[in-house]
Amino acid sequence: MRDFIQALPKAELHVHLEGTLEPEHIFALAQRNGINLEYKRPEDVVAAYDFHDLPSFLKIYYAAMDVLREEEDFYELAWHYFQRAAAQNIVYVEPFFDPQAHTVRGVSFETVINGISRAQRDAAEKLGVTSNLILCFLRDMSAESAAETLAAVEPFLDRIIGVGLDSDEKDNPPAKFAEVFARARSLGLKLTMHCDVNQKDILDHLRECLDLIAVDRIDHGINALEDPTLCDAIVERGLGLTICPVSNRFVVQNLTGDEIRQMLAKGMRATINSDDPAYFRAYLNENFEALVDEAAFTEAEILQLVRNAFTVSWLPEAAKTAYL
Ligand code: HPA
Ligand code: ZN
Repeated sequence: MRDFIQALPKAELHVHLEGTLEPEHIFALAQRNGINLEYKRPEDVVAAYDFHDLPSFLKIYYAAMDVLREEEDFYELAWHYFQRAAAQNIVYVEPFFDPQAHTVRGVSFETVINGISRAQRDAAEKLGVTSNLILCFLRDMSAESAAETLAAVEPFLDRIIGVGLDSDEKDNPPAKFAEVFARARSLGLKLTMHCDVNQKDILDHLRECLDLIAVDRIDHGINALEDPTLCDAIVERGLGLTICPVSNRFVVQNLTGDEIRQMLAKGMRATINSDDPAYFRAYLNENFEALVDEAAFTEAEILQLVRNAFTVSWLPEAAKTAYL
């Protein structure tokens, strides 16, 4: 089964580039940028990963990215991920990045996007991994800050394919960002939002995603299964759901294998993704392997999940058919 998973050309639609920052790279960047770390060795960093819910993860995730300062740092971050992707036979990626997490630290938007864009070009040329970038707004920051971020990206519109919404979901509903997302749509961007598993008011958040924002995809979205009306709407619109099993195991102590099967049975287009692989210690193939080892997923199920990812990707239709 490992060989089967490895050999399949795959797409990944839910991976935060900042969530691919490996402990060894944290150390190398800290040294290059003259930053003191409270840890002595990369192993000590991993030992301090103590995630049990979304906020406990986000705290460590945001603290670590302080080592990312220069364009070259962002280039390396993305380049290292693309190298891993190539090694796992991932041929297409729609990665997220969190510009506000950098601009609040005084790193310019240009620095961030220029580093990432250059890595995308190199990955396409040298590794055969193509990608389209998704800008995520931080939902625990204000709608005004999101609007300012969108304004800053307008000169770079050809470098992103869509916008997303991540960070702490509690009391930060989709409706808070309705105006910014409407503006993003008018600029020709695709829309997606995190509806993280078991968050407060999650069914309201899912309904707002569908009825108010009219998203093109949903990140996570497992809780939709609790409401048949939501499931029907998701099936009818052909919306993709980017599920992250190993991430779910950290955040809700459950790989969500049963839920993924229920989604497939209902015709919901579930896909498998790694979310923050450096932190959850599992890239895309390891997410599939966990489903095989712990929930006995079959080759046919894996194939369906991989096909779903290409189907609900934002590749042009002609490009998708090459993979389907
Ligand atoms: N959920 C919300 N925000 C995030 C995540 C996540 O899984 N990863 C990085 N930012
Ligand atoms: Zn995520």
